[in-house]
Amino acid sequence: MEQVSKPETEEILRLAESTLSVEGDFVELGCYKGDTSLKLAKLLKPSDKKLWLYDSFAGLPEKTREDQSAAGDQFKKGELFVTKREVVLKFKRAGLRVPIIKKAFFEDLDPETDLPGKIAFAFLDGDLYGSIKTSLKLVAPKLDKQGTIIVHDYNNPELPGSSRAVDEFLSQNPNFRLSQNHTLAILRTN
Ligand SMILES: C[S@@+](CC[C@H](N)C(=O)[O-])C[C@H]1O[C@@H](n2cnc3c(N)ncnc32)[C@H](O)[C@@H]1O
Repeated sequence: MEQVSKPETEEILRLAESTLSVEGDFVELGCYKGDTSLKLAKLLKPSDKKLWLYDSFAGLPEKTREDQSAAGDQFKKGELFVTKREVVLKFKRAGLRVPIIKKAFFEDLDPETDLPGKIAFAFLDGDLYGSIKTSLKLVAPKLDKQGTIIVHDYNNPELPGSSRAVDEFLSQNPNFRLSQNHTLAILRTN
Protein backbone atom coordinates (compact mmCIF):
# COMPACT_ATOMS: atom_id res chain seq x y z
CA MET A 1 0.00 0.00 0.00
CA GLU A 2 1.27 3.50 -0.84
CA GLN A 3 2.03 5.54 2.29
CA VAL A 4 1.18 8.90 0.75
CA SER A 5 -2.21 9.55 -0.89
CA LYS A 6 -2.50 10.58 -4.55
CA PRO A 7 -3.59 14.19 -3.82
CA GLU A 8 -0.78 14.51 -1.28
CA THR A 9 1.75 13.19 -3.79
CA GLU A 10 0.51 15.72 -6.35
CA GLU A 11 0.96 18.53 -3.83
CA ILE A 12 4.44 17.29 -2.85
CA LEU A 13 5.52 17.20 -6.50
CA ARG A 14 4.00 20.62 -7.22
CA LEU A 15 5.88 22.21 -4.31
CA ALA A 16 9.09 20.30 -5.09
CA GLU A 17 8.91 21.54 -8.69
CA SER A 18 8.54 25.11 -7.46
CA THR A 19 11.95 24.82 -5.74
CA LEU A 20 13.84 23.63 -8.84
CA SER A 21 15.33 27.09 -9.28
CA VAL A 22 16.25 27.35 -5.57
CA GLU A 23 19.82 26.61 -4.51
CA GLY A 24 20.37 23.19 -2.91
CA ASP A 25 19.48 19.50 -3.14
CA PHE A 26 16.37 17.48 -2.36
CA VAL A 27 16.17 15.23 0.72
CA GLU A 28 13.61 12.70 1.94
CA LEU A 29 13.90 11.46 5.52
CA GLY A 30 11.89 8.26 5.79
CA CYS A 31 11.87 6.98 2.23
CA TYR A 32 10.52 3.46 2.97
CA LYS A 33 10.09 1.67 -0.39
CA GLY A 34 10.95 4.79 -2.35
CA ASP A 35 7.56 5.42 -3.96
CA THR A 36 7.66 9.20 -3.46
CA SER A 37 11.45 9.20 -3.92
CA LEU A 38 11.07 7.75 -7.41
CA LYS A 39 8.71 10.56 -8.40
CA LEU A 40 11.07 13.18 -6.96
CA ALA A 41 13.94 11.59 -8.91
CA LYS A 42 11.93 11.84 -12.16
CA LEU A 43 11.36 15.52 -11.45
CA LEU A 44 15.10 15.99 -10.91
CA LYS A 45 16.14 14.13 -14.07
CA PRO A 46 16.89 17.25 -16.15
CA SER A 47 18.45 19.02 -13.14
CA ASP A 48 21.91 18.70 -11.62
CA LYS A 49 20.43 18.68 -8.12
CA LYS A 50 20.98 15.51 -6.11
CA LEU A 51 18.38 13.47 -4.24
CA TRP A 52 19.41 12.22 -0.78
CA LEU A 53 17.33 9.49 0.86
CA TYR A 54 17.41 8.37 4.48
CA ASP A 55 15.89 5.42 6.29
CA SER A 56 16.77 3.02 9.08
CA PHE A 57 15.92 0.15 6.70
CA ALA A 58 15.00 -1.52 9.98
CA GLY A 59 11.49 -0.09 10.26
CA LEU A 60 10.11 2.33 12.82
CA PRO A 61 11.89 2.97 16.11
CA GLU A 62 10.08 2.72 19.45
CA LYS A 63 7.24 5.19 20.02
CA THR A 64 7.47 7.76 22.81
CA ARG A 65 4.59 9.05 24.93
CA GLU A 66 4.02 11.86 22.38
CA ASP A 67 3.05 9.19 19.82
CA GLN A 68 0.46 7.36 21.88
CA SER A 69 -2.88 7.05 20.09
CA ALA A 70 -5.37 4.21 20.02
CA ALA A 71 -6.00 5.01 16.35
CA GLY A 72 -2.39 4.37 15.43
CA ASP A 73 -1.87 1.08 17.21
CA GLN A 74 -0.54 -0.62 14.06
CA PHE A 75 2.59 1.59 13.98
CA LYS A 76 4.84 -0.55 16.13
CA LYS A 77 8.61 -0.80 16.47
CA GLY A 78 10.04 -2.57 13.40
CA GLU A 79 6.91 -1.89 11.32
CA LEU A 80 7.51 -0.58 7.74
CA PHE A 81 10.66 -2.63 7.24
CA VAL A 82 12.21 -2.59 3.80
CA THR A 83 15.74 -3.27 2.56
CA LYS A 84 18.01 -0.65 0.99
CA ARG A 85 18.60 -3.11 -1.87
CA GLU A 86 14.88 -3.08 -2.70
CA VAL A 87 14.98 0.72 -3.04
CA VAL A 88 18.17 0.67 -5.15
CA LEU A 89 16.59 -1.91 -7.49
CA LYS A 90 13.48 0.22 -7.88
CA PHE A 91 15.58 3.07 -9.31
CA LYS A 92 17.61 0.78 -11.55
CA ARG A 93 14.48 -0.85 -12.97
CA ALA A 94 13.04 2.59 -13.71
CA GLY A 95 16.26 3.56 -15.52
CA LEU A 96 16.88 6.40 -13.09
CA ARG A 97 20.11 7.57 -11.48
CA VAL A 98 20.36 5.91 -8.04
CA PRO A 99 20.13 8.62 -5.32
CA ILE A 100 22.48 8.96 -2.37
CA ILE A 101 20.90 6.55 0.12
CA LYS A 102 21.92 6.57 3.80
CA LYS A 103 20.96 3.64 5.98
CA ALA A 104 20.80 5.02 9.53
CA PHE A 105 18.49 6.08 12.29
CA PHE A 106 18.12 9.85 11.85
CA GLU A 107 19.45 10.39 15.37
CA ASP A 108 22.81 8.90 14.25
CA LEU A 109 23.29 11.11 11.20
CA ASP A 110 26.12 13.61 11.12
CA PRO A 111 24.78 16.91 9.72
CA GLU A 112 28.21 17.80 8.34
CA THR A 113 28.89 14.66 6.32
CA ASP A 114 25.52 12.93 5.88
CA LEU A 115 23.44 15.85 4.64
CA PRO A 116 23.92 18.21 1.71
CA GLY A 117 25.39 21.63 2.44
CA LYS A 118 22.27 23.36 1.12
CA ILE A 119 18.69 22.07 0.85
CA ALA A 120 16.05 23.38 -1.55
CA PHE A 121 13.32 20.85 -0.76
CA ALA A 122 12.78 18.37 2.09
CA PHE A 123 10.09 15.75 2.58
CA LEU A 124 10.01 14.51 6.19
CA ASP A 125 8.03 11.31 6.64
CA GLY A 126 9.38 9.54 9.73
CA ASP A 127 5.89 9.19 11.28
CA LEU A 128 6.93 9.57 14.93
CA TYR A 129 7.58 12.52 17.27
CA GLY A 130 11.29 11.83 17.78
CA SER A 131 11.88 11.11 14.09
CA ILE A 132 10.23 14.34 12.91
CA LYS A 133 11.85 16.40 15.67
CA THR A 134 15.31 15.09 14.67
CA SER A 135 14.57 15.53 10.95
CA LEU A 136 13.61 19.19 11.46
CA LYS A 137 16.74 19.77 13.55
CA LEU A 138 18.91 18.32 10.77
CA VAL A 139 17.22 19.98 7.81
CA ALA A 140 16.08 23.46 8.94
CA PRO A 141 19.57 25.01 9.34
CA LYS A 142 20.47 23.91 5.79
CA LEU A 143 17.30 25.08 4.07
CA ASP A 144 17.73 27.86 1.53
CA LYS A 145 15.67 30.98 2.32
CA GLN A 146 13.44 30.16 -0.67
CA GLY A 147 13.26 26.44 0.16
CA THR A 148 10.35 24.30 1.35
CA ILE A 149 10.01 21.61 4.01
CA ILE A 150 6.99 19.30 3.92
CA VAL A 151 6.17 17.16 6.95
CA HIS A 152 3.75 14.28 6.46
CA ASP A 153 1.02 13.21 8.93
CA TYR A 154 0.28 16.70 10.25
CA ASN A 155 -3.07 16.44 12.07
CA ASN A 156 -3.22 12.72 11.37
CA PRO A 157 -4.87 11.25 14.51
CA GLU A 158 -3.05 7.95 13.96
CA LEU A 159 0.36 9.63 14.27
CA PRO A 160 -0.04 12.56 16.69
CA GLY A 161 3.71 12.81 17.28
CA SER A 162 4.25 14.39 13.87
CA SER A 163 2.01 17.40 14.68
CA ARG A 164 3.57 17.72 18.13
CA ALA A 165 7.07 17.88 16.66
CA VAL A 166 6.01 20.44 14.01
CA ASP A 167 4.14 22.67 16.49
CA GLU A 168 7.06 22.57 18.90
CA PHE A 169 9.46 23.44 16.07
CA LEU A 170 7.28 26.39 15.01
CA SER A 171 7.07 27.76 18.54
CA GLN A 172 10.89 27.66 18.78
CA ASN A 173 11.52 28.95 15.23
CA PRO A 174 9.26 31.98 14.63
CA ASN A 175 11.06 32.68 11.34
CA PHE A 176 9.15 29.71 9.87
CA ARG A 177 5.49 29.88 8.85
CA LEU A 178 3.08 27.01 8.39
CA SER A 179 0.47 26.23 5.79
CA GLN A 180 -1.44 22.96 5.60
CA ASN A 181 -2.85 20.90 2.74
CA HIS A 182 -4.36 17.47 3.47
CA THR A 183 -2.05 16.03 6.18
CA LEU A 184 0.95 17.93 4.86
CA ALA A 185 2.56 20.65 6.97
CA ILE A 186 4.29 23.04 4.59
CA LEU A 187 7.05 25.04 6.25
CA ARG A 188 8.79 28.04 4.71
CA THR A 189 10.78 30.91 6.14
CA ASN A 190 9.25 34.38 6.38
C1 LIG B 1 5.63 6.11 6.26
S1 LIG B 1 7.20 5.46 5.86
C2 LIG B 1 7.77 6.57 4.63
C3 LIG B 1 6.98 6.53 3.33
C4 LIG B 1 7.67 7.21 2.18
N1 LIG B 1 8.05 8.57 2.50
C5 LIG B 1 6.79 7.23 0.95
O1 LIG B 1 6.47 8.34 0.48
O2 LIG B 1 6.40 6.17 0.49
C6 LIG B 1 8.18 5.90 7.26
C7 LIG B 1 9.62 5.46 7.15
O3 LIG B 1 10.39 6.20 8.09
C8 LIG B 1 11.42 5.39 8.61
N2 LIG B 1 11.80 5.95 9.91
C9 LIG B 1 10.97 6.41 10.88
N3 LIG B 1 11.67 6.90 11.91
C10 LIG B 1 12.98 6.79 11.58
C11 LIG B 1 14.21 7.15 12.24
N4 LIG B 1 14.20 7.73 13.44
N5 LIG B 1 15.35 6.87 11.62
C12 LIG B 1 15.37 6.28 10.40
N6 LIG B 1 14.25 5.91 9.72
C13 LIG B 1 13.06 6.17 10.31
C14 LIG B 1 10.80 4.00 8.69
O4 LIG B 1 11.79 3.00 8.65
C15 LIG B 1 9.88 3.98 7.46
O5 LIG B 1 10.49 3.37 6.36
